[in-house]
Amino acid sequence: MKHPHKQPKILIINGPNLNLLGRRPSQHYGTLNLTELESLIQREAEALNLEAVCRQSNHEGEILNWLHASLDDDTAGLIINAGAYTHTSLALADALEVVNYPVIEVHLSNIHAREAIRHHSMIAPKALGQISGLGPQGYILALKALAERLSP
Ligand code: DQA
Repeated sequence: MKHPHKQPKILIINGPNLNLLGRRPSQHYGTLNLTELESLIQREAEALNLEAVCRQSNHEGEILNWLHASLDDDTAGLIINAGAYTHTSLALADALEVVNYPVIEVHLSNIHAREAIRHHSMIAPKALGQISGLGPQGYILALKALAERLSP
């Protein structure tokens, strides 16, 4: 049997406008669309013996509901690109305060090299770490970091 143990479940949440990847400015977000990004994530997760559950929403409340549900299932880690909610959502920060698994914040673009309003992240204090500016590779590195932390 290839995977004798249950694979740790990693929730990957992409927030508002990330469904438009591939059409957003490529100098910030590259050229992959969301389906391609999620396939990349799935492939890497499989190689790392992780189960990846990829979700995207343009609704803050829906993201909150997913986070709440993740408290009571067997979610073992979270990778979140909260899009613009990163900079605005106290509600997201409050929800992340409650979760008891490692959280990695990812941004495709380097938010610190962009407009001042993007420099501040409401969720960074709740995250184990932040990866910003490495494009899709950020999600891969986040998966690797979680895999290492979750390995028995
Ligand atoms: C983003 C950066 C945010 O400032 C922006 O609002 C996004 C995407 C990124 O992945 O670089 O929508 O999170």
